[in-house]
Amino acid sequence: MDYAGTIKQILTKLSPPPTVYLHSFGCRQNVSDGNSLLGKILDMGFAETDDINTAALIIYNTCAVRESAEKKVLGIIGELKHIKENNPDVIIAVCGCMVQQPQIIELIKNSYRQVDFCFGTFAYDKFPELLYNALTDRNLRFQYDITEYKNEYSNFNLHQEDNERAEIPIMQGCNNFCTYCIVPYVRGRERSRPIGDILADIKTLADKGYKEITLLGQNVNSYGNTLKPPVPFSKLLKRAAEVEGDFILRFISSHPKDMRKDVIDVIADSPKICKEIHLPLQSGSNRILELMNRHYSREMYMEIVKYAKKRIPGCKISTDIIIGFPGETEYDFEQTIDIVKEAEFSHLFTFIYSKRKGTKAALMEDKTTDLQKRIRMTELISVQRKIAERRENEIK
Ligand code: SAH
Ligand code: SF4
Ligand code: F3S
Repeated sequence: MDYAGTIKQILTKLSPPPTVYLHSFGCRQNVSDGNSLLGKILDMGFAETDDINTAALIIYNTCAVRESAEKKVLGIIGELKHIKENNPDVIIAVCGCMVQQPQIIELIKNSYRQVDFCFGTFAYDKFPELLYNALTDRNLRFQYDITEYKNEYSNFNLHQEDNERAEIPIMQGCNNFCTYCIVPYVRGRERSRPIGDILADIKTLADKGYKEITLLGQNVNSYGNTLKPPVPFSKLLKRAAEVEGDFILRFISSHPKDMRKDVIDVIADSPKICKEIHLPLQSGSNRILELMNRHYSREMYMEIVKYAKKRIPGCKISTDIIIGFPGETEYDFEQTIDIVKEAEFSHLFTFIYSKRKGTKAALMEDKTTDLQKRIRMTELISVQRKIAERRENEIK
């Protein structure tokens, strides 16, 4: 049955159309998934609203990367109880990474009865069916779908949040299993979109007048490994920069273990590609990098940074750092401070380690206290601030 088409037929009879409120948490990949879903919902005949109190359909697209992200979502969906009491007809759905975890489905099913249905990161194509069931059978109590389907890209929608800046996923999933990270568990194995589809999307967005296009993936440097024949990321980047139009290209995120010189050369040689690279370091200690399963050393990391700075004049490099990974000592932390001073990052995104159930690091002994972690965080931020101030003075 064509559920999306059937819903559209029902909705065209309604005036004004029912409204949808959709909010995404988490990384840009997740926000992009949320926009793609919103595009499909608008195509079904809903109108978008910012007013959650009057919406006919409320969707939260969630993130599981840190405990704080999950707590925030649970707080918000807890509050939706009052909205449901005032308007029993409202349909409430929760999707994305957090609900891909069976224990979260159990929790929502048992304790958040205002939620009508949940669907995981593989089940976007099942959304019309779940919505149709909820719309047509008000006696239904809680549906969910967290099956790991294989056909995720069958129905991608290019809907964007902004009129100038656009984002296109080039791949899904992650194969790296960094020991602290939940992403490979909630997004499955890496799969890449065909290069022709991505270039066609870039062309469509460029023709619409988008000025900035960002290519998204958890590890864009391993783009194309699953394609037959494989396509290196540098090739995609080069072809993307050759698409006609007045736009600049960005990409996020790079994994240092797969960041090769050919990618840096393409950035250096293409005026269309933004001279900024986000290259998550996580830690400056080789011992911790190994425990994190990152497959590079601080020396290898600095080699990439140096090559990028030499090859691309004015190149800005930003990074992610985790403080307080299990077993991180003062010495390990000092190693991170050292490399932060040496690399002179344009921006640091800093996170205190959050234990994620099901990951390898969750089983490692963690003796560092919260206070020690907070002190390290404050020191790291202050070191980075001094670097930024010095660079600003140099520019003046
Ligand atoms: N795939 C991307 C990162 C996705 S998560 C990449 O590898 O760059 C974004 C950032 O969140 C990571 O780079 C890491 O710094 C941080 N992060 C992931 N899991 C975390 C955890 N359990 N605790 C604290 N920070 C975490
Ligand atoms: Fe997580 Fe590592 Fe994959 Fe990034 S590369 S999503 S940090 S497992
Ligand atoms: Fe969060 Fe999922 Fe992204 S866990 S960081 S929204 S891939």
